[in-house]
Amino acid sequence: MKRMMSLGMLTGGGTGNHPAAWMHPDTNAGASTDIAFLRGLVELAERGKFDLFFVADTPAARTENLHAWSRFPMFMNVLEPVTLLTALASATSRIGLGGTVSTSFSEPYNVARQFASLDHVTAGRAAWNVVTSANDYAARNFGQAMLPPHALRYERAGEFVDLVRKLWDTWDDDAFIRDRDRGLYFDPARMHVTHHEGKYFKLDGALNVARSPQGHPVIIQAGASETGLDLAARTAEVVFASASNPDDAKRNYDDLKGRLAKYGRAPDDLKILAGLPIVLGRTQAEAEDKAQALQDMIHPDVGRFRLGTDLEADLSDLPLDEPIPLHRLPKSANQHKAFFDGIMKIIREENPTLRQLYLRYERGRKTIKGTPSQIADVMEAWFTSQACDGFMMQFQVLPGGLDDFVAGVVPELQRRGLFRLDYAGSTLRDHLGLRRPENTNTRSSG
Ligand SMILES: Cc1cc2nc3c(=O)[nH]c(=O)nc-3n(C[C@H](O)[C@H](O)[C@H](O)COP(=O)(O)O)c2cc1C
Repeated sequence: MKRMMSLGMLTGGGTGNHPAAWMHPDTNAGASTDIAFLRGLVELAERGKFDLFFVADTPAARTENLHAWSRFPMFMNVLEPVTLLTALASATSRIGLGGTVSTSFSEPYNVARQFASLDHVTAGRAAWNVVTSANDYAARNFGQAMLPPHALRYERAGEFVDLVRKLWDTWDDDAFIRDRDRGLYFDPARMHVTHHEGKYFKLDGALNVARSPQGHPVIIQAGASETGLDLAARTAEVVFASASNPDDAKRNYDDLKGRLAKYGRAPDDLKILAGLPIVLGRTQAEAEDKAQALQDMIHPDVGRFRLGTDLEADLSDLPLDEPIPLHRLPKSANQHKAFFDGIMKIIREENPTLRQLYLRYERGRKTIKGTPSQIADVMEAWFTSQACDGFMMQFQVLPGGLDDFVAGVVPELQRRGLFRLDYAGSTLRDHLGLRRPENTNTRSSG
């Protein structure tokens, strides 16, 4: 069978993934909590035959640098993902519904129960994005002054995911026999109690909901570090990759797929979706203009703050129309090395003013601007060279970006035989070509 690409989309708070999207006249500034609007958005993605509609999250509002966050309100006013996805389930029947829940600030039992329930409610369309979280704002909401170190967060995440999967296997698929003649609602022999005592969790019990339609909801991850990649190789079924060029993407793809054998997994057990920020136009020039118009809407406080975050320097007092004095910058990065090095390269080679720099800075990503056929060309090239199995589309402005994509790019991909004409199955696993996991308890006992 011909290999087909998978398509997911990031909701970007309902207004889009550009920091100034909420101010754009074609967006709904109140989208992030407007359930009628968000239903319309997911319906549109389903008309485009997308595999996955995805809601990112962090369990915290930012409480510092509000001069910038008040103009770039990412995660400042959002619905809790599982609640939102449950509401979106009733507006759709085929598209997969995925959301983030952090392993650093919840318990395995909660997450197992929530996503098993979501998988029942959606008839097999649920996906959990496993993240360890990367900001101290979240930590402070859960009794910690700051995040635990990266390695410990991932160690906890590993134990967390294993335990969630064990709980999802509490019941055999046919455990609830509901035999009225014998008066037997379930068969006790087909129930498997979990006894777990690990470094981070202690649990002695069983999930109080039947094994879900997909067996296990789909597990997503986006970790980029060694430990993140290793956890993905062991447990993830979808990975969001974020390379900004096809060569890096291909190298990362081969590297991650190559790690699977160590865990007894086949390359096809994990699908890698490349993040792809795009702006569409009827001509390339129109797309470029649209993208630039958005960049121009970034408030200087936001531009300074975003740049300063990645340069690990306070730029708040610097004049906008002069280059950043080099003595104000650290010699090397402590947080995002790739972002830091990327900006320093531009500074060294072109010496732009602070304003020029933030107006062109895209945080390691390169937004692809072009016509539908140009965008389809890029997607085809990445996909056929096996740099990815599909894409996480990032539309700068919603709903317009998605609308244009469904009207222009999806038919083009379909014409080229790269994307489905219609859903073949009904579950997210069907769309992604992922097998339904066996129940490990049944397998070991029988
Ligand atoms: C498409 C995509 C979506 C992501 N969604 C979230 C999210 O919702 N919440 C979150 O805390 N991190 C999110 N991340 C960040 C990753 O989970 C991860 O923290 C980051 O890639 C750094 O990896 P590392 O922790 O292995 O260094 C996302 C990353 C990507 C590429």
